[in-house]
Amino acid sequence: MSSLDASAVRRPLSDYTSTKLDALELFDEIASTNSYLLSEPAPAAGRCRVAIADHQTAGRGRHNRQWISQPGDALCLSLAYTFAKTPQHLSALTLALGVGVVGALQGLNVSGARLKWPNDIVALDGKLGGILTEVRSGQGDGVTVVAGIGMNIYLGDSIDFAAASGWAQRPAGLNSIANEMPTRELLAGTVIENLYATLGDFEVSGLDGFREIWQQHDWLLGREIIVDMADKRIRGIAAGVDVDGALLVDTPDGLIRVISGSIVLAGAAGSTK
Ligand code: BTN
Repeated sequence: MSSLDASAVRRPLSDYTSTKLDALELFDEIASTNSYLLSEPAPAAGRCRVAIADHQTAGRGRHNRQWISQPGDALCLSLAYTFAKTPQHLSALTLALGVGVVGALQGLNVSGARLKWPNDIVALDGKLGGILTEVRSGQGDGVTVVAGIGMNIYLGDSIDFAAASGWAQRPAGLNSIANEMPTRELLAGTVIENLYATLGDFEVSGLDGFREIWQQHDWLLGREIIVDMADKRIRGIAAGVDVDGALLVDTPDGLIRVISGSIVLAGAAGSTK
């Protein structure tokens, strides 16, 4: 059981998305909604299933970090979707999903959310949320992805989220940018609707249809950043994303493409380690 009302979560869904949703499961408490959907049967091609939790005991983020949230004060939502054929540049899907989440917030009259490569949602320079996209093998040419969205709705002060999770950035809550707070159900349903539409569009045209919008929300663009990669650290000016979703960094040695790495703003706390 969850304190969330399933019928209210379904209300914002279009008829089309409703017919494609195989399961909507709401949990009071679970280890991780992503882990749960990764262990469940994959949806058929073009279909999806969703898990939402009031509280996760082992919420996960990128780079094996923890995702910590207060029970009932965050959105912890995962959506599993099966692509009939593995899309080109699947690694760029997280960027497209970020555009989908920002679109959901805009649809709820919440503006001001930005995107930080590759998977962060930023509000007032703090971490509003994050996206964890995980891939499981599919049948034939297909592939199933589990997209997990964590978003701080109300931030309590009883947990030092940043310290507990090891995030480089202080957290921010949706209440810091929303003039009128949506209910968690309305937020969840609107996010599901946008994520499903995003997945369908990505299936057809990959990152192409999202790249320009992504760059309009790019929080790093034009800022001096430090990128920690597996084998080296680079410093330069963030210059948008390439066609395959790689981060472009303008450095004294030329334009460098970053496929994977942790980013901090140069001069930010923790950037001198
Ligand atoms: C990140 O910022 O690195 C991604 C955080 C993703 C957290 C969400 S909450 C729902 C889903 N279940 C998880 O265990 N993680 C994702």
